[in-house]
Amino acid sequence: MFMKKLLLLSATVYVLAGCWNTDSSINYSIEPKPETGRWYTAQMVDNGKATFAIRCAICHGRNAEATPNWKQTDANGNYPPPPLNGSAHAWHHDIDTLATVIKEGGRPLGGVMPAFGGQLSDKQVLEVIASFQSYWPDETYEKWLGMFYTSE
Ligand code: HEC
Repeated sequence: MFMKKLLLLSATVYVLAGCWNTDSSINYSIEPKPETGRWYTAQMVDNGKATFAIRCAICHGRNAEATPNWKQTDANGNYPPPPLNGSAHAWHHDIDTLATVIKEGGRPLGGVMPAFGGQLSDKQVLEVIASFQSYWPDETYEKWLGMFYTSE
């Protein structure tokens, strides 16, 4: 009887731990890849650009350049979609935070961006991040790395 309970308990913990993993962590390695010198591969950028064109470009611009006047709120007090090409604020977030914004959208923070968690897999979310990071100048990418991933 006791044994049975113990087994049940460990099974429950195992299942919960499994959920936690898929919900909260997204798997990537920050190590630079040979062909890009950055954490993502060229293939990820290609795949991400295709997804970006369909899902994100309508608001953030074809090359992630919209909206230049991103600090100006509209008549309802909402901010427009900011550029993701390194010229605005996106590089102030690490990969996990960017992934959370994309999956949960802006509503939890009072924004208007739609949530994509139900539509994009973790793999696609990482690819789409790679695609807009590919527009970041090296200087911005290095600053971002230093802010979140290099401990010196
Ligand atoms: C309907 C318009 C719309 C679409 C589609 C959209 N976004 Fe957004 N996005 C916004 C707005 C508006 C904001 C500003 C915050 C807010 O209001 O939620 C934003 C903010 C962001 C941010 C935070 C940027 C920062 O500087 O902090 C990221 C990252 C982002 N979007 C990525 C994406 C990606 C990737 C896609 C496609 C999968 C996408 N967005 C699709 C409107 C959109």
